[in-house]
Amino acid sequence: MAANETAEPILLEDRRGAVVEITLNRPKVLNALSFALLRALADALGRAAADEGVRAVILTGAGRAFAAGADIQELADMTAAGFIASDVFRAWDEVAAFPKPLIAAVNGYALGGGCELAMSCDIIVASQEARFGQPEIFLGLIPGAGGTQRLPRAVGKYLASELVLTGRQLTAAEGERFGLVNRVVPPALVMDAAREIADRIAAQSPLAVRQAKAALRAVYETPLAQGLELERQRFYALFGSEDQREGTRAFLEKRAAVWKGR
Ligand code: HXC
Repeated sequence: MAANETAEPILLEDRRGAVVEITLNRPKVLNALSFALLRALADALGRAAADEGVRAVILTGAGRAFAAGADIQELADMTAAGFIASDVFRAWDEVAAFPKPLIAAVNGYALGGGCELAMSCDIIVASQEARFGQPEIFLGLIPGAGGTQRLPRAVGKYLASELVLTGRQLTAAEGERFGLVNRVVPPALVMDAAREIADRIAAQSPLAVRQAKAALRAVYETPLAQGLELERQRFYALFGSEDQREGTRAFLEKRAAVWKGR
């Protein structure tokens, strides 16, 4: 534990119905993603993935940041061999592979690894005060958790190149304009906005939600023909499920569907 930390847990987990809210909680260092915090996050996501009652997860940060990136204190002494020997990137891989919807409620700075963490989520809600950026260039580094790949896919090559090469931050409004942010709300309403989306997702068939997320993820990982095939297979797979029968029948009978997740 860093000297400036108290016994307060570095990660908070709250359950609201079918939604888990995870809060990065190192506000004094703007929720810098220490190796311990990344591990705690991966563990929390592992629990949320395994719990059938959890339908969506909201990720946010305590204080004035979502996360201001990897913990520079730890990076300062890191070596290539140290990275290879550590499980730091396991956490990143687990976030990226998380099978249920992840909503980033970006309350403040989302920089470096913090921006990469938000971009690994499925939906990004931002406070008007949020700032997004990849400032690694100021440290003599480059993004290491997907920034050079996900940022261009979100905002296009030219803006992403400017952000990565100059370290400029985007405002939340710019993020929304360029496709990085779903919606921008006043600071006090960030969690409400994220909860509203999470609750809407949690009200759907968990089987269909899972297949939809898997198919959407393929957009960035496969050529179009393969992605279309994967979508079709996941579409077929839903036929014969109780939820698919229930959903279509409920529509025809003009009533609300009752999902079983089977
Ligand atoms: C460790 C950090 C930190 C970080 C802020 N702090 N960011 N500590 N790692 N990433 C600490 C500061 O040292 C300071 O501690 C306290 O948090 C408050 O920050 P200030 O700088 O005083 O606040 P402010 O002036 O408002 O500036 C905010 C800021 C700035 C613009 C966000 O803190 C900043 O530039 N942070 C670094 C952002 C960054 O470079 N991120 C990329 C990291 S590399 P004290 O003790 O002085 O109060 C990365 C690679 C990921 O993420 C690759 C995957 C592993």
